[in-house]
Amino acid sequence: MLQKKPFLSAVSVLTIAMAMTSVAYGSTIAKTVSVASPAAATSSVMNVTAATSSVTSGGVPTVVQNSCMACHGLQGVSPDGGMFPNLAGQWKPYILRELDHFKAHTRADPLSPIMWGMVAPLTAAQTQQVADYFSSQKPASGHVYDPKLVAEGKKLYFGGLPKMQMPACMACHGTTLAGLPPFFPMLAGQKRTYVINQLTYFKSGQRVATHKGIMQYIATRLDQTQIAALAAYIRSR
Ligand code: HEC
Ligand code: HEC
Repeated sequence: MLQKKPFLSAVSVLTIAMAMTSVAYGSTIAKTVSVASPAAATSSVMNVTAATSSVTSGGVPTVVQNSCMACHGLQGVSPDGGMFPNLAGQWKPYILRELDHFKAHTRADPLSPIMWGMVAPLTAAQTQQVADYFSSQKPASGHVYDPKLVAEGKKLYFGGLPKMQMPACMACHGTTLAGLPPFFPMLAGQKRTYVINQLTYFKSGQRVATHKGIMQYIATRLDQTQIAALAAYIRSR
């Protein structure tokens, strides 16, 4: 059944995962860097800078209300039925990394150009501000659309596909789907269409995963039925 020779064995994928996990535990540096900007913004003599990182009376960054809310929701939970991902509660280092990839056009799947336009005008202070804001919002709650599909997805999520040498999603995204910073994004409650799109883009090579092509390795072992089941399970959490 397996047509292509795996370029990584399941074991070496897991080794990478574990190595990345131990790096993650020691990553106070990333945190230190990421809290540096509000001070930088306020100490600026330019009132333009102060204005660009301003918040509404409700405590929402102006930039979120003006530029992000329409697609991602005011609190980072996007409207149902769309292709827009939830951002609420996503890890800050992951949000910052994706914003950088959109800025550099290195995330270039078919829907990325929408985001290229959104990140282009953001200042460094605003980029930090939106990442702080969305990562500290309450994650979306789960929703079960199709119990049968959810059960199939759950099996794949926790069991992987040993015959295809595909490790379980759980190994990197965790038993609660919370992911682990800085490398592994949270998946819990993510929109189905978005998950289906991303797994399809990883599979086709249209989205290039940052870390050793891990998600491409995974997604090329999944068919569209399995992708739909995984998306249903992820949405249910
Ligand atoms: C017009 C709709 C639209 C607006 C407005 C918008 N986005 Fe997006 N956003 C998208 C789409 C579509 C994607 C998925 C892109 C892809 O598949 O490459 C996305 C993806 C993202 C991601 C990656 C999420 C992930 O899980 O990988 C982040 C982070 C993000 N947007 C942040 C923002 C921020 C911050 C703003 C405001 C400055 C914003 N977006 C405004 C449509 C929008
Ligand atoms: C060996 C570790 C590993 C395994 C196993 C793994 N992932 Fe991932 N996953 C990642 C990494 C790392 C990323 C971030 C992508 C990047 O680096 O660009 C990611 C990203 C994703 C994304 C995109 C999230 C977003 O917000 O855009 C989805 C969806 C996803 N994984 C689903 C899965 C599913 C479903 C499985 C199981 C079939 C799985 N992953 C197994 C490491 C893993």
